[in-house]
Amino acid sequence: MIATKPLDGAFGVEITGGIDVLAPLDPAQVQEIDRLMDEHSLIVIRNQPMDVDQQLAWTRQFGPLDIGFKKVISKGGAPQKYDEVGDISNLSTDGTVAKRTDKRILNNVANQLWHSDSSFQMPAAKYSMLHSVQNPSWGGETEFADMKAAYDALPDRMKSFVDDKVAEHFAVHSRFLLGDDSYTPEQVAAIPPAHWPIVRENPRTGRRHLFIGVHARSIEGLTVPEGRMILLDLLEHATQPQFRYLHHWQVGDTVIWDNRATLHRGRHYDFDEPRELRRTTTLDDQAPELKRAG
Ligand SMILES: [Fe+2]
Repeated sequence: MIATKPLDGAFGVEITGGIDVLAPLDPAQVQEIDRLMDEHSLIVIRNQPMDVDQQLAWTRQFGPLDIGFKKVISKGGAPQKYDEVGDISNLSTDGTVAKRTDKRILNNVANQLWHSDSSFQMPAAKYSMLHSVQNPSWGGETEFADMKAAYDALPDRMKSFVDDKVAEHFAVHSRFLLGDDSYTPEQVAAIPPAHWPIVRENPRTGRRHLFIGVHARSIEGLTVPEGRMILLDLLEHATQPQFRYLHHWQVGDTVIWDNRATLHRGRHYDFDEPRELRRTTTLDDQAPELKRAG
């Protein structure tokens, strides 16, 4: 039996008992976690440190792994030992704090925009699991927004306007927004745009939710400016405080979120201080929209 308690925010639960991340899960436990994710979209597990291999083993129990934006930045590069691990740190390979001009710092900045991991690809991400190894003395929180509650709270006219709309998501759009145009044509072309309904439904629960975020750059059937303005309006609506949970990291924390039903963003911290979070992510390889958008 998995014990939970509500988080100190708009949504999500903390697992307080019944799960040891270093022990293999039985099928009933995986099902129970899936059920908790369907209901709450966000799970926190405190004080259970994992090394990289342990985190990979834990994550693989929930499906095939995703490498997301690494397809852009590591294109043509030498294979790394841990391609499936997102290194959300400001550390160089020798363990020292990277320069502010380092690509990893620029990626940390882009992570501070509201987004759904890998929404720019098909299939997109299902669960992301972010694990804390080292934290700065201030800032660096991760903030989440509940896209089920945000959809429910839309005015009826807006619901009917967006219900059948499809948005185009593009991997490098967030980088261009921040003025980082240092990508080669090959990197820009590494991941073709993906198209997702703005309103999606969880087939197991029937719950509808918004699927937006900063990777979305246009809406099919609308001019780019009108579509982009609608996307900005939806993002502003969906990330209001009443839909949010702010996670203050402690070493050994793991936060698991459903990228299909939430948005998230990193918060600012002083890049001169060492910080290390590790992300592993599963692919949403069962998404019914795959057939439609194929
Ligand atoms: Fe992210």
